[in-house]
Amino acid sequence: MKQQQLQETIKYLTDKNIDTPEVGIVLGTGLGKLVDDIEITQEIQYSEIPNFPEATVEFHSGKLIFGKLSGKNVVVMSGRFHLYEGYTPWEVTYGIRTMHGLGIKTLLISNAAGAINLSYKKGDLMLIEDHINLQGSSPLAFKQAKEFGNIFADMLEPYSKKLNNHLKVIAKQNDITLHEGIYASVLGPQLETRAEYRMLQILETDAVGMSTVPEVIVAKQLGIPCCAISVLTDECDPKNLQPVDIADIIAVAGKAEPKLVTIFKELINKL
Ligand code: HPA
Repeated sequence: MKQQQLQETIKYLTDKNIDTPEVGIVLGTGLGKLVDDIEITQEIQYSEIPNFPEATVEFHSGKLIFGKLSGKNVVVMSGRFHLYEGYTPWEVTYGIRTMHGLGIKTLLISNAAGAINLSYKKGDLMLIEDHINLQGSSPLAFKQAKEFGNIFADMLEPYSKKLNNHLKVIAKQNDITLHEGIYASVLGPQLETRAEYRMLQILETDAVGMSTVPEVIVAKQLGIPCCAISVLTDECDPKNLQPVDIADIIAVAGKAEPKLVTIFKELINKL
């Protein structure tokens, strides 16, 4: 049933004569400007795509963007689905399975995250080196999941070392600070309490957010090498907790975004 749904989605898109994408990109909250650098060939609204999750109000403009970036065919998910919006883990990762079906060989992910490591500052970038899944769910825990690959996907290297090494070199060459760290995914949508931030420090995580991990787990099941960068949008100091304003998070993400765009473009160039 799910397999059939997905095949219908993929067929609809391939029937539109899209250029087979090599690279899939997921853009996080407040991180849409990469699209300006793409020579766009087609844009398809999520709402037009059969079986694609129905977008919430926040994502009325959610779409798949096809085109060329750094000389490669890419597909971008502009607008992602979060568990906190009430989507199931299957729905949250439907776009990843779709892009895989279209032929992507590499997945680049971005997100906005809070800094747990207090030596990392608002506006800095962090390369995700590993994660801790605190969302209480897995996108591989459903009845027909075996049809899509190994459900006991190993997590030895959820984030490709090879891609991460490229990213570190690129950041250095461009004088961009790129921290490395562990990303904790939480369900949200409420932000964390002081006690929760303290717990995340004790767990030795470096950043916290509400996305990415389900997408990475599915990429792992499907064997797609992936990497992810967090834009740190606020500092989560339990000893000096400040009110967090989502508008502020989006503004900080937007300001840091050119650094992310540079890094992703150069990485695609090197693939
Ligand atoms: N928690 C705290 N701060 C954040 C988050 C989060 O999930 N995402 C972006 N900033």
